[in-house]
Amino acid sequence: MTRSRPFSLPEGEATPEALYLGRRQIVAGMAAAGLLPAPAFATTDVGKLARLGARRTLDAGEPATPLADVAGYNNFYEFGLDKGDPARRADTLKPSPWTLRIGGLVQKPVTLDVDRFVARAPLEERVYRFRCVEGWSMVIPWVGVPLSALLSVVEPLGSARYVAFRTLADPAQMPGLRSPVLDWPYREGLRLDEAMHPLTLAAVGLYGRRLPNQNGAPIRLVVPWKYGFKSIKSIVAIDFTERQPETSWNMATPGEYGFFSNVNPNVDHPRWSQARERRIGEFRRRDTLLFNGYAADVAGLYRGMDLKRFF
Ligand code: MTE
Repeated sequence: MTRSRPFSLPEGEATPEALYLGRRQIVAGMAAAGLLPAPAFATTDVGKLARLGARRTLDAGEPATPLADVAGYNNFYEFGLDKGDPARRADTLKPSPWTLRIGGLVQKPVTLDVDRFVARAPLEERVYRFRCVEGWSMVIPWVGVPLSALLSVVEPLGSARYVAFRTLADPAQMPGLRSPVLDWPYREGLRLDEAMHPLTLAAVGLYGRRLPNQNGAPIRLVVPWKYGFKSIKSIVAIDFTERQPETSWNMATPGEYGFFSNVNPNVDHPRWSQARERRIGEFRRRDTLLFNGYAADVAGLYRGMDLKRFF
């Protein structure tokens, strides 16, 4: 697995990872000695992103994955299929100004100006574990607000049972839309109780700054007990629905991706075991925890459900 460092780190940025700095110096030394090809730099400069004031309300109790990996190793198919593509190519995305429409089965639909929302919202920093179905994982200091705070503003109707999310689909900003790999726009969905759960975050930043484009600027979903693909990026629309909404991965390969997508070491994906995982930056694999370690908080949502059937 190769990972490029396609952006510059903020000057004097305090990352918690001494390891990261050490590795950077080694890599710089190797590059200076002519042992490495020059990295492909993009204009996505994390250091230029606005800082966010946020109080830390939740800690994963583990060191965070270095920013270089969080913002350099991504899935964002609107910018290509390679893990390095989003960091190299997502500078064509224009995350400001940005409007997010929240509607469907609600009393008071709204259209949010995301910049104004970020400036006024009581932002929290929450360090969450994040696991991809492919078997890698990270620990990420997100900044955002509980999604429930955003959703309750519109006063959902009693008939609403699900929440559907949609990403921007603008070919002028997203070169990957030329590829028919998914049925665009990218879509995700949650059951209402999952969407309103206090751990579900509408994220607008990471590592104390606004989201880098490649991580889903300006607003994306983070559901820490579910697989990464439930974390839909660059959201333009949220709709309350009565019926279970379609999701991009379920439409693409229904036998591999169900609607629920809970992190569950007991239910393997047809191509990848879910029993163990590798933290980015670590060598040895570790056991994957039921609901990604958040079982005490979320297991009640699925009481009585056969999670092999509803995978
Ligand atoms: N959202 C959109 N719009 N398009 C995508 O391709 N990929 C998903 C999810 N959200 C994806 C997306 C997948 S598969 C993962 S693992 C996470 O984003 C990756 O988030 P990260 O790049 O911030 O780690």
